[in-house]
Amino acid sequence: MRIKQRIFSAVLVSFAVLFFGSGIGWSKNEKAGNVRNGKLLYDKLKCSYCHKINGKGGNTGPDLSKEGAKNRDIKWQVRHLVDPASQHSKQPDMPKFDKLTDKMLLDLAAYLESLK
Ligand code: HEC
Repeated sequence: MRIKQRIFSAVLVSFAVLFFGSGIGWSKNEKAGNVRNGKLLYDKLKCSYCHKINGKGGNTGPDLSKEGAKNRDIKWQVRHLVDPASQHSKQPDMPKFDKLTDKMLLDLAAYLESLK
């Protein structure tokens, strides 16, 4: 009886940790997106090959100078970077950036949302 109770509470505690832990982690990370680092990544990953920001860059993709004013949010940006098709009804022409770390994605998203 005692052992069963102990197992039960251990399971309960790990569920609580999983559930709340991931929730807190996400909201913390969301705030931790670093705009300056995101800009460095934008240059490093050659996003400007296809996108223009303030007059500089290519024309394959939309101008991103006002991306942050488009009513997207951090989560949308991250999902779009990882899999652009998941956020559109048509098949878009942007490559998937699905090899980046969560931190890199959040930094890029923070940078994109800062463009207003
Ligand atoms: C090979 C060309 C190409 C590259 C490289 C590219 N994109 Fe795109 N991007 C596109 C195209 C085409 C679209 C329009 C379709 C879409 O929204 O997915 C787009 C759309 C976008 C949008 C607009 C989404 C919206 O509708 O609000 C953002 C933001 C964006 N790209 C960010 C990036 C970032 C950041 C990088 C670099 C990590 C990048 N792109 C690299 C072609 C590219």
